[in-house]
Amino acid sequence: MRLTPSLFALLALFVGAAACAGGTSQEPPAVDLSNVPRWDVPLDVPDEEKSRVNPIPSDPESLEQGRVLFNSQCSMCHGEAGDGTGDLVARLDLQMPDLTEAQLQEARSDGEWYFVIAFGHGRMPGDESSKFTDKWKWDLVNHMRALRDRASDERLPAGA
Ligand code: HEC
Repeated sequence: MRLTPSLFALLALFVGAAACAGGTSQEPPAVDLSNVPRWDVPLDVPDEEKSRVNPIPSDPESLEQGRVLFNSQCSMCHGEAGDGTGDLVARLDLQMPDLTEAQLQEARSDGEWYFVIAFGHGRMPGDESSKFTDKWKWDLVNHMRALRDRASDERLPAGA
């Protein structure tokens, strides 16, 4: 079907209205860290992506690849330690998660983090140009898991 200009305008209006009604835009909402801990705020990731299983074992090769990628592509925001203290944070006025936190690590699945790397979230840019292979994205996930601050495990609620 060819869309006539007026039909197209109508369609655009309709889509626009639907987006407003849902209160959503193309960008997933940034997580509001003002009054709730970040791990209590779910990421905007489809359920089937959350349950995706990490196929790449966290072996020395994967961890090394993940480290190199993270330190070159992510640390300007997340900091090399993953604690959210990269050089760009103040400059861009970003609200950064602390990826090392045990509670955040427990709250998120590998599939969820993989999805965020691929598609971004809030003000976090995604890999739209697909410069990362599938394996590299899992390498990054493996590396972030390795950044977990073991000391923060003590702050996990009992039974977690
Ligand atoms: C321009 C700065 C910036 C860069 C570069 C960046 N991030 Fe992020 N990242 C963010 C921000 C800001 C958030 C929080 C997004 C939100 O609030 O919705 C975030 C969130 C995340 C999360 C979700 C944390 C959670 O709540 O569970 C993961 C995982 C992540 N980033 C991984 C990465 C990886 C891996 C890279 C590199 C490939 C990367 N980021 C590059 C800014 C950045």
